[in-house]
Amino acid sequence: MKSAPELFKKYNIPGPRYTSYPTVPYWEKAPTEAQWLSSIQKSLTQSMQDGIGASVYFHIPFCQSLCTYCGCNTRITRNHSHASTYVDTIIKEWELYRKHISSEILLSELHLGGGTPTYLTPKELNKLITGILSKSRLASFYEFSIEADPRVTRQEHLETLASLYFKRISLGIQDFDPKVQNIVHRTQSEAQVRSVTDMARELGFESINYDLIYGLPLQTLKSIEQTIQAVCRLRPDRIAFYGYAHVPWIKPSQRRFTEADLPSADERRALYELGRTLLESAGYYEIGMDHFALKTDSLWSASVNGKLHRNFMGYISRQVSPLIGLGVSSIGDCWSVFAQNEKQLEKYTQCIETEKLPIFRGHMLNDEDTILRQHILNLMTRLTTEWDLSENYTAWLDSVPPKLTEFIEDALLEVEVQQRRVRCKIRESGRPFMRNICMAFDARLNRQVPETQLFSKTI
Ligand SMILES: C[S@@+](CC[C@H](N)C(=O)[O-])C[C@H]1O[C@@H](n2cnc3c(N)ncnc32)[C@H](O)[C@@H]1O
Ligand code: SF4
Repeated sequence: MKSAPELFKKYNIPGPRYTSYPTVPYWEKAPTEAQWLSSIQKSLTQSMQDGIGASVYFHIPFCQSLCTYCGCNTRITRNHSHASTYVDTIIKEWELYRKHISSEILLSELHLGGGTPTYLTPKELNKLITGILSKSRLASFYEFSIEADPRVTRQEHLETLASLYFKRISLGIQDFDPKVQNIVHRTQSEAQVRSVTDMARELGFESINYDLIYGLPLQTLKSIEQTIQAVCRLRPDRIAFYGYAHVPWIKPSQRRFTEADLPSADERRALYELGRTLLESAGYYEIGMDHFALKTDSLWSASVNGKLHRNFMGYISRQVSPLIGLGVSSIGDCWSVFAQNEKQLEKYTQCIETEKLPIFRGHMLNDEDTILRQHILNLMTRLTTEWDLSENYTAWLDSVPPKLTEFIEDALLEVEVQQRRVRCKIRESGRPFMRNICMAFDARLNRQVPETQLFSKTI
């Protein structure tokens, strides 16, 4: 039986985080504008019949200053004039969709991510959301959520959002230790975070999430303990406790600190384990991978009711299709088709100005992709998946059980085979290796092992 450090050493290899399958580097061919619109229309018709409606994601790339660990698509600027033009451009993009989609659009989810959506002024946020809502109908159950940076989020932002039906807010915290904050160029105090949290609660926000990162430079067991203690004092409803994704070949700003300041793989895992123990003893439950929630939060109920879903925004409490992505670099998803917008602001704007949907890459899933996508999603959300020759089956699955043997031997996974029905269940001890287990199902990665490193390490 291998010890925990031996397992972490063995399985700490580059691997996808599976916010999609196929993962973005394996996307083959973008849909044409007509194909994309037709799949949205189909998915929308289905979801309207089910009374659910569509989900819309807006990407707001602007940030006031650069956090050097950041892996997001951002535009660092203090010149606010770009933001107001950008809001107009997104509204035009939505109008393009409205022009091409014949039916009324029923909306059930809006999510603003970034960058920093609260970089927009309250007035700009109001213009953006009312611009979208004026040409759509709200579903009977809807959820609006936003990612906010406590350093730039004011009372007026929260009041505007509350008046626009927002009930969920996610605050970027990362770490409270001054040394860590200093080296990653992101300084914010507990008092500042408390003030935004209290204001949001008073205004009726029902779910407050904090983003934390483990594996940042200069983090120690002591500093993580203090950060988690501060978090428990503030008691958000949900916590995303992300492993720092170190990808300096994609994000050169991550070279602004030295790799010698990063915790080793063993230390990283110890940071996570300590965080998990402290959060669990404060009443939080671990959900999927890297997420925690109080029992009163919908993420927890979704995880016990089998409704948990995972997409480009991370874990969410239900699956809504289609997902229409608006704004630079946003990704849309109709389950069998992905489409991503231009990643460069200038190119994105130019497309909208010429009345073209700004799709620059995407993927049309074949039958194998769709089946494997479901299995990977099952593992990432329910920690279990199963198939037989007539159900959820594609030939690639024949090659999966031999790839799972090492996980069974390492006591990370249980596999049951009964009359050609295969059932896999990730054990609690296997949770840290979820990405590795999913890689056995990833036909595209196995067929074409990348020549250069594309993904961050799994542990
Ligand atoms: C768009 S930001 C959140 C909103 C706002 N920009 C902020 O930072 O407060 C999304 C989250 O991604 C996470 N993140 C960014 N870069 C990361 C990286 N390299 N590895 C792991 N998580 C990362 C951070 O936790 C961050 O809060
Ligand atoms: S972590 Fe948030 S605020 Fe910092 S650069 Fe990234 S998106 Fe901007």
